[in-house]
Amino acid sequence: MGLSIPAYAKLNLTLEVLGKRPDGYHELRSLMCSLALHDTLRLEPAAAIEVRCSLPELVGPGNLAHRAALLLRAATNYSGGATINIEKRIPVAAGLGGGSSDAAATLIGLNRLWDTGLPGEALQDLAAQLGSDVPFCLAGGTALASGRGEILRPLPPLPPAIILLVRPPIQVSTASVYAALTPDGYGDGAASERLATLAYATPPVDWPLVNALQPVTLRAYPLVGEVLELLRELGAAPVLMCGSGPTCFGFFDTAEEAERGARAARDRGWEAWVTGPIDWQP
Ligand code: C5P
Repeated sequence: MGLSIPAYAKLNLTLEVLGKRPDGYHELRSLMCSLALHDTLRLEPAAAIEVRCSLPELVGPGNLAHRAALLLRAATNYSGGATINIEKRIPVAAGLGGGSSDAAATLIGLNRLWDTGLPGEALQDLAAQLGSDVPFCLAGGTALASGRGEILRPLPPLPPAIILLVRPPIQVSTASVYAALTPDGYGDGAASERLATLAYATPPVDWPLVNALQPVTLRAYPLVGEVLELLRELGAAPVLMCGSGPTCFGFFDTAEEAERGARAARDRGWEAWVTGPIDWQP
């Protein structure tokens, strides 16, 4: 009766901010890809909507998967509910879109479980109401995002790559990072456009990765600079911060080097995952 659905982490290979919009959000250009690292959602029919999670502190009315279920039910006038069991693997408030991805997987999964038949475009509208990263997490794969992140140009899958994610034990509020961004951090989106072409022709070491939020988070949390430095020392190239941070990532040539890097990061008390882009569509 129930169904299981993966919720993949997202990675911003570029994150360029073009300026502040009248609605308070920022206009972005971002080349994004899904990562193999994922949470798993198990959905079961039930009378009411209930979220359970391997991290119980994430359960509550603010949970984005819970809000996604309520939104889908309201949009379709469905009368039943569901139990949503989330097995977390994506770190929380880490710049990897974990909550957004759980919300997107909830929309996809419950639309199937409830047989509510909402078309893809309507699901994308609901996703955009839940958060700027939810539309990408719903679409999956590789895309060039614009607007506040909800306008997506799908791109061919990236070539296979070995990525090490390293996360220091701090949590960063995305809203406060954007609030501290000043116009000298604005760009024109050219790097994102360039990467959209280059990524299929050159190895990652030549990719023009950029994250306008990195200097802002670095100022507030110098520990993030130490994570970037360790990745460089380990031989990763290029290295960058994920989203608004604090997780950072770097590309390695071999899985062995990346695993060695993961052990070095864990020796310092940081969390680490070896992963890579995944070609996934709902
Ligand atoms: O859309 P979401 O709720 O995930 O965004 C979290 C916060 O990040 C927003 O409240 C806003 O402060 C900031 N943000 C932004 N511009 C974007 C996306 C997010 O200013 N394009």
